[in-house]
Amino acid sequence: MLAVVSDTQGPRLLPQGPLPPQIRAAVEESLETFGVTGATGEVTRVPAPQQLQARVLVLTGMGPAQDDVTGPSLRRAAGAATRNLSGLDTVALALPTGDADRAAAVAEGALLGSYRFDRYRSVPTPAAKRPVSAVTVCVEGVDEALLEGIVTRSQVLVSAVHDARDLVNTSPADLYPETFAAHAVEAARGLPVDVTVLDENALAEGAYGGLIAVGMGSARPPRLVRLDYCPQAARLHLALVGKGITFDSGGLSLKPAKGMENMKSDMAGAAAVLNAVLAAARLQVPVRITGWLALAENMPSGTAQRPSDVITIRGGKTVEVTNTDAEGRLVLADALVAACETGPDAIVDIATLTGAQVVALGNLISAVMANDDAFRDRVCEAARAAGERAWPMPLPPEMRASLDSSVADLGNVGDRAGGMLAAGLFLSEFVAPPAGAEGTAGAEGAAAQAPDGSDGERPSIPWAHIDIAGPSYNTGKAHGCTPVGGTGVFVRSLVRLAEDLADRGL
Ligand code: BES
Ligand code: MN
Ligand code: ZN
Repeated sequence: MLAVVSDTQGPRLLPQGPLPPQIRAAVEESLETFGVTGATGEVTRVPAPQQLQARVLVLTGMGPAQDDVTGPSLRRAAGAATRNLSGLDTVALALPTGDADRAAAVAEGALLGSYRFDRYRSVPTPAAKRPVSAVTVCVEGVDEALLEGIVTRSQVLVSAVHDARDLVNTSPADLYPETFAAHAVEAARGLPVDVTVLDENALAEGAYGGLIAVGMGSARPPRLVRLDYCPQAARLHLALVGKGITFDSGGLSLKPAKGMENMKSDMAGAAAVLNAVLAAARLQVPVRITGWLALAENMPSGTAQRPSDVITIRGGKTVEVTNTDAEGRLVLADALVAACETGPDAIVDIATLTGAQVVALGNLISAVMANDDAFRDRVCEAARAAGERAWPMPLPPEMRASLDSSVADLGNVGDRAGGMLAAGLFLSEFVAPPAGAEGTAGAEGAAAQAPDGSDGERPSIPWAHIDIAGPSYNTGKAHGCTPVGGTGVFVRSLVRLAEDLADRGL
C-alpha cells in the first residue's frame, strides 16, 4: 500500500516505502489513468507490478500535498485502506513513517480499520468480507528496540477499542447490567485487575439511590462494577467513571421511537472505561486506576421511577427527577460519589449524556468539561495525542440555578439551552473535596462549591466530564478508522491520559 497526495500538477506518491525507483516511477506515471486523485479517504486497487510480491497494489489518499503528513492523517489513510480491503489476508503498508509516532499511527489505523461485527450473522462472513487479518508496516528510521513496543501498544489499544465497539454493537437483549458485569469479570481474567460487582442487594445496602431508581423500571436489575488496577510503581490514582445504560428508552418520560433506535449505545462510556483500564493494565502503565461502570437499563413499567420522584444519591444529596430520560446523570452521581470515597488524585467520567452534545459539536468531536481548566486541557491534549477529537466546553456557574428544585437539593434537568453544560454542572455537584479537606459533603457545602474547582476554601478533586453522545455511535457511513455502529471512541485517549499522568504527574 502506498500513500498518494493530490497536488496542483496532479496526484503524486509520497516518497517513502521500500519500492524500487523504476516501479515507483511507473506507478506514479499511471496514477491519473487509474483515476487516482489522492483525495482524503480515497482507496484504489491496481494490479501490482510484476516485480512486487503482491497481488494488488493499493493507493490510499492523503489529501492535498501541502498538508502535513501527521499521525492523524496517516491513521485515517491506513484505516480507510484496510477497511476497504476486506477479503485480503495480509496487507503491507508502505506509508511515510519515519518516526515512532507515525509508525504507531499507521499500525493503529490499519488495525482499527480491520473490524467487523458479525456476532449475529446466521451465515459465517464470506471470505470477501472478512477483515484483513494481518498487517505489515514498513518502517524506516525508527529504532528497532522501539518497534516492538509500538507493535504491542498498537495491538493492545486496538483490541481494547474493538471490545468497546463489540459491547456497543451487542443487542441490548443480550447485554444488560448483569451480563455486562460478567463480561468485565471475564475480560479481566489473568490481568492484575480486581473486579468487584455490586448487585441490586449490595446497591440497596450501599444506598446507591441513583442506580436503584433508574434500574427499577427494568426486569433486569442494575449493577455497579468496580475495577482496581493498582501497580506497585504508581504515584498517582486516577478514577474513571463510565455511564452504562444498556438501553435508554427514556423510562416513563418515554423517548419517541426514532429517538430510541440507537439507545443500545448508551453504555459506550462504561465500555470505554472497562477497556481503558484493561489496556492500561496490559501496558503496565504505572498509575493506579479505579474504574467504575454504572450499569442500569432505563425502562418504563409499573415499577419504574416517576417524574417528580425524589431520590437520594449515595452520600445523601436528594434529587427531584423531573424527567426520567435524564437518567445518565443519576447513575453517574452515585458512581462519582463512590469514586471520591476512594480518594483519587483525579476523576474523569465519560458518558453518552446529552443530545445537546450532538447539537453543539456533532458526531466527530467529544466535549470536555471540568472543574479545573488545566486538567480539562490535559484531557483534550491526551485526546489529541491519541488522534481523537475533543473540545473544551465551559461549566458556567450562573446556570446552576436552573437545576434548583422546589422540593429537593436539586432537580435532574436544567436549562434546555446549553443542556450539555447543565448536565455537566449537575455532575459537578457530586465531586467531593479531596479526602482530608475541611467541611462536610452536605448539600450546603456542595451548593457553595463553584464548578471552577473551588469555593474559595476547599479545592475539589480535579475532575473532567466527557460527553461522547455523538462520537460514540456512527449512524452514517464508515470513514477513516471509524466503522458504522460502535466506534470505541476515547478508549485510546483515556489510556493516553493515564500514561501522561504517569510521565508528568498531575
Ligand atoms: N442517552 C441520552 C443522550 C443521548 C442522546 C445520547 C442522543 C446519544 C444520542 C440521555 O440519557 C438523554 O436522554 N438525555 C436527554 C436529557 C434531557 C431529558 C434533559 C436529552 O439530551 O435529551
Ligand atoms: Mn435518557
Ligand atoms: Zn441516556
